[in-house]
Amino acid sequence: MDKQITVPERITIKTGKGGLQYLDLRCNGAEAHVYLHGAHVLHYQPAGQAPVLWHSKESLFEANKPIRGGIPVCWPWFGAHATDTTLPSHGYSRYSEWVPVASSASATATTVTLRFPASQGRSALAELTVVLGSSLEVTLATTNTGSSAMPLSEALHSYFAVSDIRTVSITGLDQEQYVDTLLAGRPILTQEGPVAFEAETDRIYINTTRECVIADPGMHRSIRIGKKGSLSTVVWNPWIAKAARMPDFGDNEYPEMVCVETANCGPNALSLAPGQTHAMTTRIDVETP
Ligand code: BG6
Repeated sequence: MDKQITVPERITIKTGKGGLQYLDLRCNGAEAHVYLHGAHVLHYQPAGQAPVLWHSKESLFEANKPIRGGIPVCWPWFGAHATDTTLPSHGYSRYSEWVPVASSASATATTVTLRFPASQGRSALAELTVVLGSSLEVTLATTNTGSSAMPLSEALHSYFAVSDIRTVSITGLDQEQYVDTLLAGRPILTQEGPVAFEAETDRIYINTTRECVIADPGMHRSIRIGKKGSLSTVVWNPWIAKAARMPDFGDNEYPEMVCVETANCGPNALSLAPGQTHAMTTRIDVETP
């Protein structure tokens, strides 16, 4: 790795779980860990707060496997591939090592940018920029470097740590429409009030640019998730049966997490013209009373 990426006391290269390398970012007491594998933010902890992101104790940390937790980058498609079922769920970026290409540190922010390796012969470029300051801001920028239109669906698939999924609620989606991916025919329904959880939940809220807030009375905090360049918000908790089916997710871990994903997917999938760049940002803030 280019040594110029490191900045004394602000950005250091460390070896993490499974021997995978990550960038350890610091800024005014806040910290974040960005794994090169998948450009995966695994850890974010604001000054004086408990960790904000969750990851499974059963997660694999292997070069050719996705990490379960943190902020996986789903790119350049979300969910199953539209036409080829042999391709991996949520695209291929979770399986590759990204390359750090830029970094900076100021009085208020520590920033790194990683690039998806162009050597893979694909006519699309992705860059992920992580800004650690008074909040955590993650931007995924995609450029169509080819000569024809590029279909794109994507998510910053953020896993948040909560005290107990059965007592948290999510505001910011009232009256928004969502695709309920668990129901036959994937109907489009309308959200009434805050989102609460009492069973497996897997929804794509569509045509929404709104900020969401996870209210967590058990942890005495709220997590505010703002976004730009995103029309979808995915809300997911696997609950009991699906957790039991996933080898990299502990059977008893589902109460500890909720995914609120900044995305463009389902009916909000994009098409990028040749040369076009699209950027999508998620911004995470923690509020305590
Ligand atoms: C969510 C999807 O975003 O990701 C779910 O809405 C899916 O359907 C979940 O199960 C996890 O996906 P994966 O590929 O990481 O197991």
